[in-house]
Amino acid sequence: MAKAVGDAILRAGNPGRSGHALSIRSARDLFMARERLAELFGWGDSSRFVFTENATVALNQAIKGVLRPGDHVVTTSVEHNSVMRPLRRMEATGVRVTAVPAGADGVTGARDAIAAFRKATRLVVMVHASNVSGALQPVDAVVAAARSRGILTLIDAAQTAGSVPIDLSALPVDMLAASGHKGLLGPQGTGFLFVRPGVPIVPLIEGGTGSRSESDRQPDFFPDALESGTRNSVGAAGLAVSLAWILRKGVETIRRAHAVHPISALQSEYSLWERNLEAEIIPVLRELEIGLVPFSPLGRGFLTGTARRAEEYPEGDYRRGDPRFQGGNYDANMGAAKVVAEVARELDATPAQVALAWVLARGSDMVPIPGTKRRSYLEENLAAATLRLAPAAMARLDATLSPEAIAGPRYNEQMMAYIDR
Ligand SMILES: Cc1ncc(COP(=O)(O)O)c(C=O)c1O
Repeated sequence: MAKAVGDAILRAGNPGRSGHALSIRSARDLFMARERLAELFGWGDSSRFVFTENATVALNQAIKGVLRPGDHVVTTSVEHNSVMRPLRRMEATGVRVTAVPAGADGVTGARDAIAAFRKATRLVVMVHASNVSGALQPVDAVVAAARSRGILTLIDAAQTAGSVPIDLSALPVDMLAASGHKGLLGPQGTGFLFVRPGVPIVPLIEGGTGSRSESDRQPDFFPDALESGTRNSVGAAGLAVSLAWILRKGVETIRRAHAVHPISALQSEYSLWERNLEAEIIPVLRELEIGLVPFSPLGRGFLTGTARRAEEYPEGDYRRGDPRFQGGNYDANMGAAKVVAEVARELDATPAQVALAWVLARGSDMVPIPGTKRRSYLEENLAAATLRLAPAAMARLDATLSPEAIAGPRYNEQMMAYIDR
C-alpha cells in the first residue's frame, strides 16, 4: 500500500480535470478504488461510493445532507463524536435527537431503538460497532424496521468496514460511512460515504467536479453530486491496493474453481524478476496440490539480456506499451538483469538456462514454458533441466533481482485492470 502511494504521488495529475496522461492515471486510481469498494460491499454501481477525507466528513455529509428543521433523529448513546457533535449542532437548527441508551453490554436493544421512532423521525443513525467497547449493534433489525416506516438510515461502519462482512445488497441501509485508513488498511485521508439511489441528499460542499463545467449548478449525478474539489487520488491508489489485498481475488478464484473441479495446474507469469505469486498464490497452489506453469520465465527478454527499448519494437507490439521497457525503467531493469549473465558465465551456461534453472529449482511443481520459434533455443532451454544452481548463486540471483530492484509496474494500467478480476 505504501509503495502504491509513493508511486502515485510521483505521477499525480488532477483526476478528471484534463485529458493529460497523468490526469487520466489519477482518475483511474480513484476508479479502481471505487470499483473495489463496490465489490467488497456487494453493490453493483461504484458511483454510489463518494470519496471523503475520512469517516467524519462522510458522517457530516450524510447527517447535514438529509436533515431539515423539524426532523427527528433516533441514535444511540454509544455513538462516536463524529455523529453526536453534528447531531447536537443540528439541534440548534430545530432538529430533535433521541439517543437511545445502550445496555450494560454496550449493545443498544433493537426494540428500544424501534420504540423511539416517531412520526417526525427522518433518520436513524447507528454505529455498527462501538469504538469504545467493540459491541456490535443490531443494525439489521433496526434498518429493516426503519425502512418499513420510510425512515432513512445511516450506519457508521468506521470500526467494521474491512473487518466485519457488510453486504449492501442484503442490508437495505440508505447510507454507510467508513474510514479508508482503519479496517480497509488504506492510507490516512481516505474515507467514503455510500448513498443508495433515491436518497434525497444535498451536498455539504459545492464546487468544481471536472464535469459539466459549463454549468454553475452542482451536477446531480453520483459521485460528482457530493464530490467537489480535487480528490485524493494518491490516497485512492493506496486504498485500491489494500482493497485488492482484502478481496484476495486470485486466491479466492482458485479455491472456488478447485471446489467445482480439481485443478491440475495454473498458468501465470513467474520468473526471477516477476515474483508476485510468491506471497499468496504459490502457498495456496501447494496447499491444494496444484502445479504452476510459469509463462515468461525469461522475463520477456530481460533475463537473457535481449530486451530492447520500448520504442525499438514495431507498432502493435505489446512491449512498446510495457512500462518495464520504457525510459529509465528499461535501463534499471537491464542493469539488474546483468547478474544472470554473470552467473551464467561462471557456470559456462547461457543466461536463459540460468533463468530457467532458477524456476525449476523452486520446486518440482513448476513447469516453465519459455516461448521460442527456433530449434536452437529450444535445445538450449531444454538443457536447463540438468543445470544445478548452487545455494550461493540462487541467493545472489534472489537478492539482485528482488521485487524492489525491478523498475515499473508489471503491465500497463489497461492490462493491470484485468489481473485478479
Ligand atoms: C465509530 C467511529 N466512527 C467514526 C470515526 C471517525 O473516523 P475518522 O477518523 O476516519 O474520521 C471513528 C474513529 O475512530 C470511529 O471509531
